[in-house]
Amino acid sequence: MNELIKDIDIITGEEAHAVDYKTTVEENTGKAKKIYIESYGCQMNFSDSEIVASIMKENGYDTTSDFQQADVVFLNTCSIREKAEQTVRNRLNHFNAVKKHKPEMTIGILGCMAERLKDKLLEEEKIVDVVVGPDAYRDLPNLVNAAEDGQKGVNTFLSREETYADIAPVRLNSNGVTAFISIMRGCDNMCSFCVVPFTRGRERSRDPHSIIAEAQDLFSRGFKEVTLLGQNVDSYKWSPEENNKARLNKKEEEVSQVVNFANLLEMVAQISPLLRVRFSTSHPKDITDEVLYTMKKYDNICKYIHLPVQSGNSRVLELMNRTYDREWYLNRVKAIREILGEECGISSDMIAGFCTETEEEHQDTLSIMDIVQYDFSYMFFYSERPGTLAAKKYADDIPLDVKKRRLAEIIEKQNKLSYERNKLDVGQEQIILIEGTSKKSQVELKGRNSANKVVIVPAAGLKLGDYVKVKITDCSPATLFGEVLEINPALA
Ligand code: SAH
Ligand code: SF4
Ligand code: F3S
Repeated sequence: MNELIKDIDIITGEEAHAVDYKTTVEENTGKAKKIYIESYGCQMNFSDSEIVASIMKENGYDTTSDFQQADVVFLNTCSIREKAEQTVRNRLNHFNAVKKHKPEMTIGILGCMAERLKDKLLEEEKIVDVVVGPDAYRDLPNLVNAAEDGQKGVNTFLSREETYADIAPVRLNSNGVTAFISIMRGCDNMCSFCVVPFTRGRERSRDPHSIIAEAQDLFSRGFKEVTLLGQNVDSYKWSPEENNKARLNKKEEEVSQVVNFANLLEMVAQISPLLRVRFSTSHPKDITDEVLYTMKKYDNICKYIHLPVQSGNSRVLELMNRTYDREWYLNRVKAIREILGEECGISSDMIAGFCTETEEEHQDTLSIMDIVQYDFSYMFFYSERPGTLAAKKYADDIPLDVKKRRLAEIIEKQNKLSYERNKLDVGQEQIILIEGTSKKSQVELKGRNSANKVVIVPAAGLKLGDYVKVKITDCSPATLFGEVLEINPALA
């Protein structure tokens, strides 16, 4: 999910998950109290913060971007690598200092680190008042109330059903153009390096009615792009029988059949040709040709797939328990190219220096990158996580300097590939959706093309949410530059 972190085009090493995000939106509706939320980790966590804000809003809280003003401070945390947890601990030290002068401030740890460490966090971090895991956010108002009365609390119950389907997220940090919709929670894969199945629990799919309703609502409020989120979107599956308990409105019996990811994608794409649809993350073992043909059928489904490979070597993939090998992965890429063509963007995640990885096996990762020609990647060195299969079964035996050197080689390779792929776009005419201002210049705006590449264009005459036909005139390894040909061309 990490490719969805905005404003960063090529994310290298540990940075991808260290990007924090603050509640910059001041929502002042005259409520008595204020919360400040800081989020770490993947887009699903950021999405959860929007659910948390919504739950708290219903219970008398506005949001603030200044934690000094806050009655309640939440850190929504990530456990994916050791460094992600270290970042949170550093922040906690900071809040500790603040709380000395403001003892009435409630501090809550939410998200994956809360789930992983549970009540240990209360013991280790004396300043923490509540610890709440990803499936227990409905309990937050109670726990915060109890904490205000001096009663510290923990709820890390993991649910088989909770999807927060009925909660309309408060869009934090919104550009008003692009939004994320969680379509499922948890993960049933057991990749041996990964902590997510332990922190997020069993996989469950959200009622398609509520997903469509959320997308329609966003579109009616002027949003132009939705990204459907899940750890493994291709295994989305909803059926009236299996999911009956999770259904909100039992009268809506019109969906009587099983809805798979391709069906869901089509339902969202049909809302309007002016609503772009993206999704993440695709698992190589599960992505079907049906999904690829659905993408081809609708112009408004963006031609971009995040298909993390992790390693290019079949033995390492087996140790990682990814349940595909190099050949299977390359066949899936072949299907993408055959059905969607060369223009379809493909990105990846790679882990350097997994347990027992040899130099030759590392070379296989570099070579698969050359074959696939990734547009960009999120690249990490292996960080052992307590409790995972790999931590139990294999020694973390690659020295840190070797891990870092291999990672540097992967990053260097990706930078070259990104530049080569970007050069192919120069001279092309493309449609982009304007979603923000350029980081570097006041007189430029930033959009994205269908393949998820950032395109910088002169701002004159444009506004956020415009579709623009551009001609790509130049590129860097991370960015395309364009000139405007037509504003809001007919897309229907
Ligand atoms: N569900 C997604 C991944 C979510 S985690 C998928 O299956 O692709 C995002 C990325 O973090 C992973 O793809 C992996 O590359 C990286 N990652 C996960 N655990 C890690 C670990 N222990 N050390 C280093 N990187 C890790
Ligand atoms: Fe982790 Fe694997 Fe699940 Fe992705 S698919 S969240 S890497 S266990
Ligand atoms: Fe996401 Fe980090 Fe949890 S990547 S699912 S917030 S461990």
